Amino acid sequence: MKWLWLLLSLFITACDRDRADKDANPLHLPPSGFQVDADQGKKLYQQNCQQCHGPAAKGSERGPALLDNTYRPAHHANLAFHLAVKNGVRAHHWQFGDMPPQPQVSPEQTAHIVQYIRQLQLDAGIFTE
Ligand code: HEC
Repeated sequence: MKWLWLLLSLFITACDRDRADKDANPLHLPPSGFQVDADQGKKLYQQNCQQCHGPAAKGSERGPALLDNTYRPAHHANLAFHLAVKNGVRAHHWQFGDMPPQPQVSPEQTAHIVQYIRQLQLDAGIFTE
């Protein structure tokens, strides 16, 4: 009988852990007060996003330019970036197909990338502070 309880508690622990993993950070946001850095964001962008969104976020044949009015903060808030990285994006604005989730990019790394992209947008005059 003992082994049955052991098995049962192992099973429950595994389920709990599974649930905790899934709900731990559904919005994929860093802790509040996290310091963002555009330079780190640039490197992370080049490693994880550039193959589709192009050098300096100017787009490629696989994905749209993020340096575009469509992605200004008033239209795609930072949260949209965090959710895109976590969940991927179903094609809805363009004809490039879906964006797959990017599980290798942490919430903190995403925040750095967003800072880099906002800097590019700001420099290009897409929005003003
Ligand atoms: C395999 C190609 C690919 C990669 C890699 C990729 N994206 Fe995308 N992404 C896309 C495509 C395609 C779309 C456009 C979907 C559509 O039609 O709206 C998109 C859309 C987006 C959007 C818009 C989301 C929305 O709500 O409309 C954001 C933000 C974004 N990507 C950020 C990123 C970031 C940040 C990275 C790197 C961590 C990244 N993407 C990596 C292909 C990619």
